[in-house]
Amino acid sequence: MRETQPPPNLYHMKTPLIIAHRGASGEAPENTLAAFALAQRQGADMLELDVRRSADDRLVVFHDATTERWNGCARPVQACSLAELQQLAIGGERVPTLEEVLDFAVTNHIALNIELKETGSATQCATLVRRFRLVEAVVVSSFYPQALHELRQVAPEIRRGYLMGVRSWRPDVRCREFWPFFALRAVAAHAWHPYEGLPSLEWVLPRVRRAGYAVHVWTVDDPLRMRVLADLGASGIITNYPERARLVGL
Ligand code: G3P
Ligand code: MG
Repeated sequence: MRETQPPPNLYHMKTPLIIAHRGASGEAPENTLAAFALAQRQGADMLELDVRRSADDRLVVFHDATTERWNGCARPVQACSLAELQQLAIGGERVPTLEEVLDFAVTNHIALNIELKETGSATQCATLVRRFRLVEAVVVSSFYPQALHELRQVAPEIRRGYLMGVRSWRPDVRCREFWPFFALRAVAAHAWHPYEGLPSLEWVLPRVRRAGYAVHVWTVDDPLRMRVLADLGASGIITNYPERARLVGL
């Protein structure tokens, strides 16, 4: 860990944050150090990354539940060792561990949005975030309220982001996305992470902001849409193309 200056503090950063989705994954292999480095060169303020657990209990930066997209074999990530996962070629790059990305963040003074893709990993994640002294520079997000509850139990000081936007017509899901306040309160969230296509987003986004939550919208690649969401008060734009956000002055 080569610490050159203190890590960024989310409370003191400009808004909207430009958050690189799986790194600059529109132009580099997703969730790899190459994508994270490109995102930083393109001016991203924060890196979004997906975290899963390997069979030998290492936290790895990997999106899918299986390895199929990369080797044609639908093997669950949780059945693969770290060494096996690191034999995959992700567009020619290697699967990083969470520790490697935390080290990258410290060295490069960049904030992180760590998405927990599973429950049961919060304690290990929190231990690493604390060890790298990145508590103020991190938001941990998840679609799973259970993962956020777990994080709150072991590390209440780490910010929690509630992800919403699953494809479902279940009435409870639709209600939660239309009026997210109860769900956000239940996990004491710092931030709401809504899908940019939620039908009521334009209406509810300013209300969520006024209630004191940060709002980080995913995944927005159209610069005009970025501008609209920024004007509505979005605190962060999650994008595959951080450079485009800069083109519209964000
Ligand atoms: O953080 C938003 C986004 O990453 C959620 O969806 O599937 O790209 O992880 P996904
Ligand atoms: Mg993600």
